[in-house]
Amino acid sequence: MRARIAVVGVGNLGARHLQSLARLQGGLIVDVVDPSQAARDRGVDLLAEIGGLKRGHVNAVASLERLSGTPDLAIVATNSVERSRVIGALVEAGTPKMILEKVLFTRLQEYDAAASLFAKFGTQVWVNCGRRFAPRMNDLLAMAGSKPLNYRVDGAGWGLACNVIHHLDEFAFLAGCDEIALSGDKLDSGTIPSKRPGYIEFTGTLSGRTASGSNFSASCVAGDFTGRRVTIEAEDLELKISQSDQTLTVSDAQGVRTVPFPMPLQSEITAQHVADILDGRQPALPDYSTAARLHRPMLNVFLSHLRRCTGNSALDECPIT
Ligand SMILES: NC(=O)c1ccc[n+]([C@@H]2O[C@H](COP(=O)([O-])OP(=O)(O)OC[C@H]3O[C@@H](n4cnc5c(N)ncnc54)[C@H](O)[C@@H]3O)[C@@H](O)[C@H]2O)c1
Repeated sequence: MRARIAVVGVGNLGARHLQSLARLQGGLIVDVVDPSQAARDRGVDLLAEIGGLKRGHVNAVASLERLSGTPDLAIVATNSVERSRVIGALVEAGTPKMILEKVLFTRLQEYDAAASLFAKFGTQVWVNCGRRFAPRMNDLLAMAGSKPLNYRVDGAGWGLACNVIHHLDEFAFLAGCDEIALSGDKLDSGTIPSKRPGYIEFTGTLSGRTASGSNFSASCVAGDFTGRRVTIEAEDLELKISQSDQTLTVSDAQGVRTVPFPMPLQSEITAQHVADILDGRQPALPDYSTAARLHRPMLNVFLSHLRRCTGNSALDECPIT
């Protein structure tokens, strides 16, 4: 039997999810869903450029209503504002499994609504925060796990609002605790435009701590992207991860050494998640409830900060994606 996979939203990232499906051996029906004809064409072209699906075919449609069958798995790579509605339509149509992009939603109540919907329909859902499953994360865990740690990420122009969830997820995993008290006291006043139209970004520092004494700090200054550096200190150990160089530098009693720390591209990794899910295994992604537990306090702090900056205490939406 052929598996049916819908990629909903084939912008910059959705097109990479789509390309990855070319790695799968089994027969597939792939539905590419995006209201933008240009995005659909680009997605289909990018897939063709790398040789297309091994077996199966692609249908490109403008909306979910035009699907000719229910997907076995949907990958939702729209921006955050559209996500709730898209998820609702997929669940109502009987889609049993989904991978959702971060940032999940822009309103706190959407997290509860989605949780109720998934529970009611028995939908299995994972969220694409993959850092905790980086190929060498177990090495990191062996060195820094189960010790109080200081986790710091910094750089310019890296999209704090958009990307900090990846680091909260990595921190929670290493610290062994997903109850993080966050503070936006050191965020800069005001917002800057996101690289995605209609969305905002914050600069400054988001900080947090766990009850067990681990500390989190994410800092971003405005300006051109200069890379993102992660530093983890645990007892007499310091670890530095460079995403652009894909290296890990370890400083400890034995000295300083730099080793490869691969972070696969989306086009290399989605196929493995899809194969795992279709074969009934857990993919290397946090499930919805784990991801939502980390998204909620983050959104709460950003929302409070936005209310303070705008003087509008009734704001219930923080447009980050
Ligand atoms: N997990 C990661 O590492 C990672 C990396 C990059 C981006 N992202 C996330 O992925 C999301 C998308 O990012 P992007 O850069 O691809 O954005 P994008 O703007 O390039 O793409 C979004 C696409 O969604 C389409 N869309 C809008 N409404 C739709 C609907 N109702 N149904 C179907 N498609 C619809 C748009 O036409 C567009 O093509 C963002 O939330 C972003 O944060 C995650």
